[in-house]
Amino acid sequence: MTNMNTLLEQMTLEEKIFQLMQLTPNFLSEDDANLTGPLAWMGVTENMVNNAGSVLSAVGAKETMALQKKYMENSRLGIPLLFMADIIHGYRTIFPVTLAIGSTWDLELAEKSAAIAAKESAVTGIHVTFAPMVDLVRDPRWGRVMESTGEDPYLNSEYARAFVRGFQGEDLAGDLDRVAACVKHFAAYGAAEGGRDYNTVNMSERQLRESYLPAYKAALDEGCEMVMTAFNTVDGIPATGNKWLMRNLLRDEWGFDGMLISDWGAVGEMIPHGVAADGAEAAQKAIEAGVDMEMMTSHYANHLKELVEAGKVDVKLIDESVLRILKLKEKLGLFENPYRAASEEREKEVLLSGEHRAAAREVAAKSFVLLKNEQALPLRSGQKLALIGPFAESGDILGPWSIWGKQEEAVQLHAGLAARLGADIVAVAKGCEIESATEEQLREAVAAASEADVIVLALGESSEMSGEAGSRGDIRLPQAQLDLIGRLKPLGKPIVVVLFNGRPLDLHGVIEEADALLEVWFPGTEGGNAIADVLLGDVNPSGRLTMSFPYSVGQVPVYYNNYNTGRPLTPQNASERYVSKYLDMPNTPLLPFGYGLSYTTFSYSGISLSTDVLNAEDTLHVSVDVTNTGTAAGEEVVQLYVRDMAGEVVRPLKELKGFRKLLLQPGETKTVTFAVTEEQLRYYHADLQLKSDAGEFQVFVGANSRDAESKPFRLVK
Ligand code: BGC
Ligand code: BGC
Repeated sequence: MTNMNTLLEQMTLEEKIFQLMQLTPNFLSEDDANLTGPLAWMGVTENMVNNAGSVLSAVGAKETMALQKKYMENSRLGIPLLFMADIIHGYRTIFPVTLAIGSTWDLELAEKSAAIAAKESAVTGIHVTFAPMVDLVRDPRWGRVMESTGEDPYLNSEYARAFVRGFQGEDLAGDLDRVAACVKHFAAYGAAEGGRDYNTVNMSERQLRESYLPAYKAALDEGCEMVMTAFNTVDGIPATGNKWLMRNLLRDEWGFDGMLISDWGAVGEMIPHGVAADGAEAAQKAIEAGVDMEMMTSHYANHLKELVEAGKVDVKLIDESVLRILKLKEKLGLFENPYRAASEEREKEVLLSGEHRAAAREVAAKSFVLLKNEQALPLRSGQKLALIGPFAESGDILGPWSIWGKQEEAVQLHAGLAARLGADIVAVAKGCEIESATEEQLREAVAAASEADVIVLALGESSEMSGEAGSRGDIRLPQAQLDLIGRLKPLGKPIVVVLFNGRPLDLHGVIEEADALLEVWFPGTEGGNAIADVLLGDVNPSGRLTMSFPYSVGQVPVYYNNYNTGRPLTPQNASERYVSKYLDMPNTPLLPFGYGLSYTTFSYSGISLSTDVLNAEDTLHVSVDVTNTGTAAGEEVVQLYVRDMAGEVVRPLKELKGFRKLLLQPGETKTVTFAVTEEQLRYYHADLQLKSDAGEFQVFVGANSRDAESKPFRLVK
């Protein structure tokens, strides 16, 4: 077996530097014209290409293996290429987008979805996925909120761990159906000002540590192999060149010794950011900050050699980076078998298998959040149904980051419903496009609806309207769709809105008009089937929001775990002027974090505390009885929050500390018991030390962050 240190010693400085470079497969294609033409502007030479350390994106087992074979033939020292790609919510079998997976509040399902994504991508020759994305988000204008699991540090951390377990399994080296995970985007990319992608991030170190960093740390604690930098600044310095962030915090404080990759082109972006005068300075800053591999720009390849020779960069930094890359290749077993799990035969058997489709259907159905229901759902047999809207027969239900998913393999809403209802669907009409409508389309919709007992109205955002660079300043549905509702409403028939989208929306103009509203996000390959499962009542909706739905974009950022202020708005002072409030809208979101309805109802009773004085070394047990008071079996997500009533630093009004998803039969009661310890009550004090305060706390248990009953206790230290 090759020893990585020995291998490093045999490498020339150039070979080392090129190892730090990641390119897309077209760079490695046979086409020489490519090398002298389009690639020349990047300063990429054939020598670089032949020695690059990694390939970004995937092309299927056949091509991947051919690329690896050709590369290895040219490689003087027999160093294999590392293949990385964005396998975010599935490879060929597309699961719902991450924000939807988050809404399941089901860590096992999240893990399972990642394990399937890992397997499907591993057999095509991918070694690393650029996931999980664990950026905490509070601004639904930002298009990438669909890649995250929402606004809560604790929940995001639990999901970060689940995704890492799913991708990497327990034994990454031995289990070839797993891929290495790369947590991103380090750090705080989700806090872009105004929700505009790539925009400035400015926050205190306390806020960073308290809210934004825990999920990255959780992923690393779970063994995540890699970290990706972020495009944004962190306290004035772009993350990709931020020594404090990556040397002091990530490497020294957290002890992370794995591989760190820049985001796409982020090394070069230090020039427009205005912290590097040229590519050489950008390269120097990135390597000094600890970026091992440069994605899609060639500043390392073009400048590191001269920087070393001029004594500006210590070759030790380069050696360290190369060694980390070699070690990951070694861990993945690439020196023994550079193809790892790549296999054309297994690709056929594994991709989009029946088992994977079934899992995608299950996750999708459990990710839907019932936001309103006035006895319109579930649909009843024999009801004549009109299916209307731009998503009635749309294949655009896979969502952003579904590069290898195929729309033609996705089950559209109409197909999913037709498979179950057949002749009960009496009319189908598009009604409008996503962002425009003709008079004829609107009339057709009214005519279609006139024949039916109930209207299923499939509305939403196209996948292009969210995802990377998918920021919107106005997060209402496009006017054309609101107009469509306006035309249908006067018919007086029940309207069931099925909403496809990648972010919390301002639902005004939709929610008041609808009799029922089911949020289905971008549900993935099995979308239509899963929606039918829920609309027909075979699956009782159990999704809960992990991000607040604002009353209006004017409130944003609006999130549940905010601070009280010195002049909090209360029911008693609502008519006074000098309190913290808006004159023209409420402070609270339209729909709070944790919210979601069911086809049954649940009641909470008898919240009891094992003690009202918690000694620092003991455990407080919080119990509650939850009863299914309706007529259908259903799942409830029981949520536990705490509040520190007087800290050294202001504390959130509520902080999620635990949750439990329970299945209850009609009439059934279960007792849920949560454990609370002193450790869970710690926070960053004025000196940034993590510790707790003795004194009064409130504990809350309930169905969401708004509707929760509280009990006091005291921490004694
Ligand atoms: C995105 C990353 C992604 C990378 C590679 C970038 O534009 O910000 O999330 O992993 O591209 O595709
Ligand atoms: C205002 C101050 C003002 C003070 C006395 C406060 O409510 O915030 O700006 O000086 O009242 O009128």
